[in-house]
Amino acid sequence: MVKNRCYCWINTFGLDICFWVGRNFAFPQNVVLPYVLIPELKIMLTQQQLDSFRSFAQQADQDDSLASFRSRFSFPQHEGKDCLYFCGNSLGLQPDTVEQYLLEDLAAWKTYGVKGHILGDRPWKPYHKFVAASLARIVGAAEHEVVCMNTLTTNIHLLMASFYRPTKERYKIIVEAGAFPSDQYLVHSQVEHHGFDPAEAIIEIQPREGSFTIEHDDIINAIEKAGNSLALVFIGGVNYYTGQVFHIESLTEAAHNVGALAGFDLAHGVGNIPLHLHDWNVDFAAWCSYKYLNSGPGGPGGIFIHERHGLNPETPRLAGWWGHNEDNRFKMPKEFEPMKGAEGWQLSNAQILSFSAHRASLDIFDEVSIEQLREKSLKLSSFLRGMLAALTQAGMSFQIITPTNYPEKGAQVSMLTDSENGPALYKYISDRGVICDWREPNVIRVAPAPLYNSFDDVFQFVKLINDFANAA
Ligand SMILES: Cc1ncc(COP(=O)(O)O)c(C=O)c1O
Repeated sequence: MVKNRCYCWINTFGLDICFWVGRNFAFPQNVVLPYVLIPELKIMLTQQQLDSFRSFAQQADQDDSLASFRSRFSFPQHEGKDCLYFCGNSLGLQPDTVEQYLLEDLAAWKTYGVKGHILGDRPWKPYHKFVAASLARIVGAAEHEVVCMNTLTTNIHLLMASFYRPTKERYKIIVEAGAFPSDQYLVHSQVEHHGFDPAEAIIEIQPREGSFTIEHDDIINAIEKAGNSLALVFIGGVNYYTGQVFHIESLTEAAHNVGALAGFDLAHGVGNIPLHLHDWNVDFAAWCSYKYLNSGPGGPGGIFIHERHGLNPETPRLAGWWGHNEDNRFKMPKEFEPMKGAEGWQLSNAQILSFSAHRASLDIFDEVSIEQLREKSLKLSSFLRGMLAALTQAGMSFQIITPTNYPEKGAQVSMLTDSENGPALYKYISDRGVICDWREPNVIRVAPAPLYNSFDDVFQFVKLINDFANAA
């Protein structure tokens, strides 16, 4: 398996290094490079450098076994050309098959009316099952451990109802500082809902002084310190702002060692990094599908519940009719009898039209392994970092705050800009057809997605930054 082999890719310019050393890695401190810091000096890339970056990109695109996937996505247009789209960490591009899948499901409604629940090629009653195998593969789970339903924040609340059941002794939650705001509000409101004081119950792990990312050991130490008072570790598997990838397996193990549970928000992890949720013993996880999974705006969320909880009918949960045993659901019995596995957490019947778009995208994911995607993703982000590093004399100041070492980085590269140049730079590139995003207070997030981004996209992007420096 690719995941167990030793992989190392050093880009042509020796500026960035990524290591692939299998799942049981230790963080390789020796490959951590200092932040890419752009000093005030104003010297742009030479024509020779640009030419060699361009030919590197051309060669990498020629060698790219995933290159043909690009043509199956629709790119927003700028002046008659494809935008340089780096926002797959926010909203993935539309697969070309989405319209057809939607039309088929609309036709079923037109043709069968309510009988569409049981008739046609894709009856609606079991519709969530049609995406389960793909999702299970993507998150490293058994099919009965995943289900597609609702949306992300809603799902995490539902999972908290099952897995955050604080007592007077064990009530604390460990979270990462700077988690996505919805997670912060969610955890805060859960703690208050159970009558605890968030200031005391929530332990936020901060980056060390002068750093933007969190030391893994600091989370482990906090888990050990909280000990018997800890109910739950709840971390975003990949932080939305810095792009830092957390070590899910060892955080889960540390939580279990003190008798706590571990759950993860994988909004930025799913479809981005290899996941082995079952083998890692994760208790629960949830994700949205509209980022790297390309299911479209507001696309349906997904959950993972480890089978040791999911197959136990006694696991507490908030119930709805779609989680009830499907064999007698329509007999409308009074007493709730949960379906086995994650399906038993469903509340409502599926939103077929958004599931439809999700199915179109997952069918594309089924054609490629997560390891192949990861391999290309690491190359793309390494090339991006390499070019940005070469721009260190371009007259702007920004830092790459995403960790450099392989296990802690995903597709996203976060550029921390200064208040003077950042907004102007963002406007300059946006006006010229780049779609990436600005996250307050001053980060430009760039996420080359291996399914549809090319090395030339990356080249053109950094060239625009160079042009900005030239023009300034
Ligand atoms: C990490 C993370 N968590 C939660 C959310 C909220 O997702 P939703 O609006 O689907 O509930 C987002 C949205 O981008 C996110 O990035």
